[in-house]
Amino acid sequence: MLNNAVEFIQEIIKDFSPEIGIILGSGLGELADEYCNIAINYSDIPGFEASTVAGHKGRLVFAEINGKKVVMMQGRFHFYEGHSIQKVVFPVKVMKKLGVKTLIITNAAGGVNPNFRPSDLMIITDHINYMGTNPLIGANDNSMGERFPDMSEVYNSELIELVHKVGDSIGVDLQEGVYMALTGPSYETPAEVKMAKIIGADAVGMSTVPEAIVASWAKMNVIGISCICNSAAGVSTVGLSHEDVIKAANTAKDKFKKLVKEVIRKI
Ligand code: HPA
Repeated sequence: MLNNAVEFIQEIIKDFSPEIGIILGSGLGELADEYCNIAINYSDIPGFEASTVAGHKGRLVFAEINGKKVVMMQGRFHFYEGHSIQKVVFPVKVMKKLGVKTLIITNAAGGVNPNFRPSDLMIITDHINYMGTNPLIGANDNSMGERFPDMSEVYNSELIELVHKVGDSIGVDLQEGVYMALTGPSYETPAEVKMAKIIGADAVGMSTVPEAIVASWAKMNVIGISCICNSAAGVSTVGLSHEDVIKAANTAKDKFKKLVKEVIRKI
């Protein structure tokens, strides 16, 4: 199935060989509208499925940004949509086979750290997998990665440094911290957010970790950036809604795009 998808895509993109992959999170998909040389709908790609979440398109977009060849996922597959964890990470394996060396994973997240404000951007320094599963369960594809991969440095420290430098140089303030993934789709209870804080999380969300595990396993360099869209439940007294999350992502999207474009230039 993986080879079918890769061959299908390569027939369309010909000799366009992307070196950077970007997974665009909720409300952050505009980058793929701005830069788009070739777009392929997920529903056409063998092994991909259509995205079911409002605010997420479902297509793979190929473009040259600041001199680099990039493939963007405009919309991702979430575990909470009912996709198997293998389906969630399938596009990452495809990107690896297409030649992607560096994967930028973005998401919308809830702020657990009380210093975070809606529309802040957070560089992910590490993660906690609280999804109760792991995308590497099952037969191991030794051609991609090893059976028991080291996860000591999923988010490459030199790249974290680079993102900070880029943020400084273009005047985009950045937070940094640990991202904890839960399955969703319900948001957390205040008690769960309290637990998240106690065990070391700065932000909570429903994505990213499966993709980061697979990318790290396949020896890709990973950059993670969260858009903090709300204070997680109980951190502030305001209730949560998907609409508010999208609104906060919209507020952040210009600085987000600026940051990502500049990071691409510097990679
Ligand atoms: N929790 C989990 N996922 C999220 C949140 C949240 O508060 N905000 C945006 N995505």
